[in-house]
Parts: sequence; C-alpha cells; structure tokens
Amino acid sequence: MPKRNPTVPKHIACVMDGNGRWAEQRGLARIEGHKMGEHSLFEAVEGAIELGVEWLTVYAFSTENWKRPPDEVKFLIGFNDDILLRRQDELNEMGVQIRFVGRNDWRVPKRLVNRMNEASALTKGNKKLKFTIAFNYGGRAEIADAVKSLMASGVSADKVNERMIARHLYDPDMPEVDLMIRTSGEFRTSNFLLWHLAYSEMWFTDTLWPDFTRAHMADAVADFQQRGRRYGGVTA
Ligand code: IPE
Ligand code: IPE
Ligand code: MG
Repeated sequence: MPKRNPTVPKHIACVMDGNGRWAEQRGLARIEGHKMGEHSLFEAVEGAIELGVEWLTVYAFSTENWKRPPDEVKFLIGFNDDILLRRQDELNEMGVQIRFVGRNDWRVPKRLVNRMNEASALTKGNKKLKFTIAFNYGGRAEIADAVKSLMASGVSADKVNERMIARHLYDPDMPEVDLMIRTSGEFRTSNFLLWHLAYSEMWFTDTLWPDFTRAHMADAVADFQQRGRRYGGVTA
C-alpha cells in the first residue's frame, strides 16, 4: 500500500451551504436545491476516499435550522431519512462507516433516529472512511451537553480538563478537524463543531453546494498542503 501523504488532512468538515440560493437563482423552490445537493454529498464522500482522507463530517441540519419555514424543515427531515434509506447499501459497499453527531431531542422524529441507528449498525465494520452526518447539531449545544454529562459523572471541579471534556462530546473518537470547507461565499462557522475547529484550516468558495464536486475538494486539499500550521508555536 502506498504511504499516506502526511499532509493530507485526516479530518475534513463541510458546511454544505447555498442550496436555497442555487434554487432561487433558477426560479425553483428551495427544496430543489437541497435535492441537487445529494449529488455533491456523494462527490464529497468519493473525493475524500480518493484523496485518502480518514474522516469526513458534513453539516446536514443545525440546531438553528428549526427556525426555517415548517415545510422546509419537514422536507429536510424526510430527505435525510430518504437518502439513508436509498443509499446506505451503496455507502456500505464503498466501505464507508456512517456515524452521526447531534442532539437527540424530541424534535428529531423516532423514524429518523431508527434510520440513523440502522445505517450506523450496517456500516460499523467499514474502514475506508468515517463519514459523520451532523444532524440537529450545534457546537454550543454539544459543549453544553458534554458539560452536563461530565457533571453527571460526578467528577470534582478541580479534576476537569480539556481531555475530559473531549471524552464527553457526542463522538469521543472524532479527531480535531484539519480542514473546514464552506461553500456559498459565507465566511463563518455557523455553530459547526466548535470544539474540533479550534485549530482547523478554513477553505471558502463562492461555489454553491449543488455545484460542489470532488475537484473542489482536491483544490481545498492542495491549498491546505501549502499552509504552515503552527498551533501557536513557531515554524521550525
Ligand atoms: C444549506 O443550504 C443546507 C442546509 C442548511 C440544510 P441553505 O438551505 O442554507 O441554502 P442558502 O444558504 O439559503 O442558499
Ligand atoms: C449552516 O448553514 C447549517 C448547515 C449547512 C446545515 P446555514 O445556512 O444554516 O447558516 P447561516 O444561517 O447562513 O449562518
Ligand atoms: Mg445557508
């Protein structure tokens, strides 16, 4: 097996943004943009595998997205369910391990929770790519939930440290993000993976998510490979 290029990001996180604008530009309903985003999602998964990325995390629905019109929220819930149903076997054959992060509260329908559990169970032995879908996810909610779980464990305040908080996050195995990609010309995190993004490199493009392809991911990685990461230190 060829040696992995050490500068390939181990973990890429994507803020899949711009579906609504993509549709509006064409005089279509916003949900048509979401539908087109499915193709880009698979471009991202296949691109990540081709590049040798180990972890890919995508922002599918934020804790703030409940503010959207009820019809759009309903569509997004059904659409996520539908994608998993239709494509989990394909992802499984590709060697993708499907994982989820997010708050499992009363707003997430049981049917979708069951679907997520089914997809995770089906693919749990796969090794090619750890593909995490962030659904009903908020970075602040995750940290608040971690603190709640830490306190419930009975730990004393003087023992609390960063490693301990990290062990109580939704997925304690998820590594820090090396590269965050956001489409649609917006320059913000929108509450995505706040803990894991602390030292990630950011790559932004005006391309709207439905137009995103594996070539964009390759460009982002090439850019990443030119950057010096110092983590607060000095370059050797
Ligand atoms: C991203 O596209 C998808 C989700 C947030 C679910 P948007 O729906 O945010 O598209 P814009 O930003 O309105 O164009
Ligand atoms: C972030 O996009 C959430 C997802 C991609 C799921 P938004 O479109 O919701 O973010 P804002 O509102 O532009 O910050
Ligand atoms: Mg948006």
